[in-house]
Amino acid sequence: MSEYRTGLGWDNHRTGPGRPLIIGGVTIPCEFGLEGHSDADILLHAVTDAILGAAALGDIGMHFPDTDPRWKGAASSLFLKHAVALAAEKGFEIVNVDSTVILEKPKLKDHRLSMRENLASALNLELDRVSVKFKTSEKVGPVGEGRSAEAQAVVLLKRGD
Ligand code: C5P
Ligand code: MG
Repeated sequence: MSEYRTGLGWDNHRTGPGRPLIIGGVTIPCEFGLEGHSDADILLHAVTDAILGAAALGDIGMHFPDTDPRWKGAASSLFLKHAVALAAEKGFEIVNVDSTVILEKPKLKDHRLSMRENLASALNLELDRVSVKFKTSEKVGPVGEGRSAEAQAVVLLKRGD
């Protein structure tokens, strides 16, 4: 018998000058980026937390504290792959991932396929099982004013036949 688990992930980073804008492993040409200890990839962080959450394995900061110099500037794909490995140790495989990135500008839709491919590769999933969506915040609030960006993710994990 199969057991199914859902997990929810959310992340939020401030925008800032002189930083790369890396979302879903894609570096997007832009005059600002996202601040953070690692590469500040909000999408990968949200998906990582969703996987950890579904497997009841804590959260990203528990496994990769931002006070640890080992993770300064780290590629977030490392966090994601580690979460997948921890979930696999508990017998879980990923069924699908859905996500939303909320960013006022620039437009991200031309990068959707690259982001999905990066996620599918890190998660060892078929492309069809990985969804990435984009929204503005309609100029309202910190995201809408361009001061931050957010990502949300849900995953479904399966254990057993
Ligand atoms: O937020 P809004 O509904 O106006 O977004 C309309 C469309 O614009 C989205 O469905 C998405 O395809 C695209 N979009 C984007 N990059 C963003 C925000 C939205 O490509 N940063
Ligand atoms: Mg983060």
